[in-house]
Amino acid sequence: MYKIQRASIDDISQLSQFAGKTFSDTFRHYKQEDLQNHLEKTCSEKYFTNQINNSNNKTIIIKEDNIIIAYAKYGKLELPVNNPVYPGNELHRLYVDPNKKHSGIGSQLIKYVFDKSIEEKNKSIYLGVYNDNKIAIQFYQKHGFQKIGEYNYFVGPHIDREHIMQKIL
Ligand SMILES: CC(C)(COP(=O)(O)OP(=O)(O)OC[C@H]1O[C@@H](n2cnc3c(N)ncnc32)[C@H](O)[C@@H]1OP(=O)(O)O)[C@@H](O)C(=O)NCCC(=O)NCCS
Repeated sequence: MYKIQRASIDDISQLSQFAGKTFSDTFRHYKQEDLQNHLEKTCSEKYFTNQINNSNNKTIIIKEDNIIIAYAKYGKLELPVNNPVYPGNELHRLYVDPNKKHSGIGSQLIKYVFDKSIEEKNKSIYLGVYNDNKIAIQFYQKHGFQKIGEYNYFVGPHIDREHIMQKIL
């Protein structure tokens, strides 16, 4: 079992690099220019500084030898969910170092998010996942999520179709 900790301002630089690298490694179907613009919006140091200072959301990390090997972000429901089971929150991000995948780290993080969401009196949790990300979809199903809809995720002008998944807590 790894120690899970809240990301702090001291982690921002490393977190921004880790987030950019894991996103780029996972999704390889974007034009380079669209990807770079998207990373600037979603993985920059400015982005994570705002998130850490945003009381609606929490960013958690796992470190090994002081190096980030996984992170997750959860909090306010932002997905376009029709009639969410109220109150519900959202798992916004979950990324594991490619060299550490399939060894239980993602499961440890998602169970932590479930426990904290229940402590915060949530009745449900939602997420969006790219419809071709078969491994992640299988992972989420294994953890009790079911598909309840779809939505469009924009990376610049590029549109990905994503599944919206729900788990009742
Ligand atoms: C999805 C992800 C977070 C799962 O974390 P993980 O630490 O690898 O997963 P765990 O070891 O805790 O869980 C294993 C389960 O996940 C799925 N899984 C993980 N890696 C897999 C692989 N290489 N092949 C098939 N299934 C896999 C399986 O359901 C597996 O269950 P099993 O062991 O019974 O076969 C991780 O693969 C990842 O970071 N992927 C890239 C980023 C990503 O897609 N994030 C989600 C964006 S919405």
